[in-house]
Amino acid sequence: MDVSIQPKHALSDKVEHFTESVIREMTRQAMLYSAVNLAQGFPDFPAPAEIKRQAQEAIAADVNQYAITWGAKNLRNAIARQVKHWQGVEVDPETQITVTCGSTEAMISTLLALCNKGDEIIIFEPFYENYGPDAILSGAKPVFVKLRPPANGDGEWIFDERELRAAIHNQTKAIILNSPNNPTGKVFTPTELELIRDLCVEFNVLAITDEIYEHIIYDGSRHTSIASLEGMAERSVTINGLSKTYSVTGWRVGWAVAPPNITNAIRKVHDFLTVGAPAPLQEAGAAALGLPPSYYESLAISYGARRDRLIPALTEAGFCCFRPRGAYYVMTDITAFGFPDDVAFTNYLVKELGVAAVPGSSFYHEPHDGAQQVRFAFCKRAETLDEAGKRLQRLLQLRRR
Ligand SMILES: Cc1ncc(COP(=O)(O)O)c(C=O)c1O
Repeated sequence: MDVSIQPKHALSDKVEHFTESVIREMTRQAMLYSAVNLAQGFPDFPAPAEIKRQAQEAIAADVNQYAITWGAKNLRNAIARQVKHWQGVEVDPETQITVTCGSTEAMISTLLALCNKGDEIIIFEPFYENYGPDAILSGAKPVFVKLRPPANGDGEWIFDERELRAAIHNQTKAIILNSPNNPTGKVFTPTELELIRDLCVEFNVLAITDEIYEHIIYDGSRHTSIASLEGMAERSVTINGLSKTYSVTGWRVGWAVAPPNITNAIRKVHDFLTVGAPAPLQEAGAAALGLPPSYYESLAISYGARRDRLIPALTEAGFCCFRPRGAYYVMTDITAFGFPDDVAFTNYLVKELGVAAVPGSSFYHEPHDGAQQVRFAFCKRAETLDEAGKRLQRLLQLRRR
């Protein structure tokens, strides 16, 4: 029986304008070809025992029904304490925090709560691929501002202040910021953040800031939340979550911190989208946020070691690596291999060499901009990284041909 949809029941125009996630598709390819998965950003090592125990205890204690729709009180209180501790920003857990199903839901709920058709949102590119579809689903028009790669792998990705200023129009609602950044590993400097702050204030624009890699940061860099800068608490939505800091990407607990009027709107959207995030995992999340400072120090150190394990293997295999300052990805330039584009190259990697990576084009709105770039995730065990490195050495033969 043909069960495909009839023309009169055509699909929403919105979904015609984006594809499924390339990153998540690469994970499926990795499974198909038994490849080492350096595509999707999830750890292949255990989550901290203490927080797993807290989750088990919460289920055993029957925290198994809906939590308050905008988040369990314990978790909201813990988030407020963390924001104060790390960024010195006071937030009221009763009126300024919405707990969501991952930071993914926090972002789409925020955009749905803020944007009308015709509003523009500025996105630095390359960008985390969700932001494109998020913009389309919320009816906003994305306007892209380029982050340019360094001339050598060790420099910084930078944007041009004039380009950013020129991208701001009457219809601009918000600038989406992601620092530490996926895929580039860029950590926006205080000077860059001040510049963005000045533009937000001058043009009455909001900052929507995805800070999911807040604690994964290297080389003595420090994470500054734009909401902590003068004049920004009242015009920022700060998005974060448990996934990356506590190695629990499958728990789906995130949050948005915003001024009360914006929080009200986000809570309404969130309520009708998902009702709430998993109740027992919110309780475990509250405990996780109470881990001592040493937890965050060792997290950053262990990721620094993983970065320093993968980059030499990639360099030896012929990649030009852009050294990340934060987050857990390495963006690479693949020009040396002579492939027509990134998709052909990642297909070759997954099928012939057994390593899954993400084609660079999935981080750009014009695919050709990323056609000679590929991203590798290093949130993996040493053995996984070493196995990938070993398999990738076969590229040397390709370069010698
Ligand atoms: C920049 C960025 N934001 C959000 C997410 C998704 O986070 P969550 O698991 O909290 O939905 C990711 C995951 O890779 C990411 O890289």
